[in-house]
Amino acid sequence: MKQPEERLPRSSRVWLVTGCSSGLGRAFVPAIVACGDKVIATARRLSDIQLLASDNVRCMQLDVTQSQHVLDGKLAEDVSFFGDIDVLVNNAGFVWSGVWEELGSEAVQQQFETNVFGAMRLSRSVLPYMRCKSSGTIIFLGSIAGWLAIAAGGLYSASKFALEGAVEALDSEISGMGIRAHIMVLGEFRTKILDPSSPKANFKTIQGIPAYRVIKQELQDAHMQTHGRQLGNPELAVQRIVDFVRMENLPPDQIDQLPVRIPIGSDAVDVMRKKCEDTLGLLDSWADFASFNFVKAAAPIIKVKENINLKSLLLGALRTSIIAPEFVAKVGPVALAPAEEVVRAYKKFLEEDLVGDRFGQGVECSQDKNTTVEKFPLGNGGASEASAVPWDGNVKDFHSETNGPELATPID
Ligand SMILES: NC(=O)c1ccc[n+]([C@@H]2O[C@H](COP(=O)([O-])OP(=O)(O)OC[C@H]3O[C@@H](n4cnc5c(N)ncnc54)[C@H](OP(=O)(O)O)[C@@H]3O)[C@@H](O)[C@H]2O)c1
Repeated sequence: MKQPEERLPRSSRVWLVTGCSSGLGRAFVPAIVACGDKVIATARRLSDIQLLASDNVRCMQLDVTQSQHVLDGKLAEDVSFFGDIDVLVNNAGFVWSGVWEELGSEAVQQQFETNVFGAMRLSRSVLPYMRCKSSGTIIFLGSIAGWLAIAAGGLYSASKFALEGAVEALDSEISGMGIRAHIMVLGEFRTKILDPSSPKANFKTIQGIPAYRVIKQELQDAHMQTHGRQLGNPELAVQRIVDFVRMENLPPDQIDQLPVRIPIGSDAVDVMRKKCEDTLGLLDSWADFASFNFVKAAAPIIKVKENINLKSLLLGALRTSIIAPEFVAKVGPVALAPAEEVVRAYKKFLEEDLVGDRFGQGVECSQDKNTTVEKFPLGNGGASEASAVPWDGNVKDFHSETNGPELATPID
């Protein structure tokens, strides 16, 4: 949640929208102009958008996969044209379907180049201007696919999941500068995004590995059934986003606390809610497993400076369940053995194998084995006790003094 930099809607803003040749991007242009703002409409092919040009609409060729240098140059041109830039809408995107095993790195690269890296690049181009004036809004087009991944839809989902994380971080980096970043989590809207005749539908892998045929066919069928029948009207979605950016038609208490994520569509609300509920259920049923005391289980830092008092070290080690993993690996389940055997084996181990070495994650010892543990940070009084108990060199005493092996905890 963030505080918006300005509570009152401003009369006129300059927007830049990517991917205006069709769908939501195209719908943005008239919606922005209708509320008195100006827009730099961009598309990969200028011919696709030229008819949109007017006093308030500047059309520009822009492919989000172009290099940072090229995008920076275009942005500079745009800013000088209308004299400002207030809102960037990272809308350009497409769906690349297919199963993980069959998708080559070229597909992965192309999907991310447009849906993620392109949006990141253009945001990078625009941020210096926004930082300079301490205001601006960057909108990203997320998706329910960024909350729920389905078979053969993983690549597109991965790109939208990636955006979720990137935008969340971006927002926390820039909100203190008066700049807003939001990801719109869209449900299904009637655009050509699922057009099966589009070269980007990429079901060509349908002939691939037989084991995946059914999965791919199911997604292709689902796309064909959905295409053109999505309930959501893209013009209304865009109107909602424009209102949101301009902070118009929003309840005042929502204007005060604008979240990073905004669901657009009741299906988006349903998907996000289900994901949250499922996650809460998971946390309930796996809490015990997850709450295992990893802090205690991890080897603490035991620094044995000069001269190891072997018994002291062992006493502490047994009490806090830490004995060098290399030692355990070498002599077997030592913690279950009688204490004197542990001491004997450990002594031998130190003498023969690892003296002077750093072993496990934490035990560090030197050549000299006659003084005390310097630092013993884990609990159970190990540190003080380890230092306090003088070792007379008799391993049998150790057994009786410490009640034997029950102090030793199994290490697995
Ligand atoms: N419609 C939905 O149900 C829905 C749901 C969730 C999220 N979204 C997101 O909404 C955004 C818009 O999608 P849409 O539904 O409007 O689909 P669309 O009608 O297919 O429009 C996608 C636009 O992105 C453009 N584009 C693709 N690659 C580009 C590139 N490298 N550089 C510049 N522009 C590029 C396309 O241009 P070309 O004509 O040149 O290919 C097209 O103008 C996408 O990010 C999509 O992931 C849509």
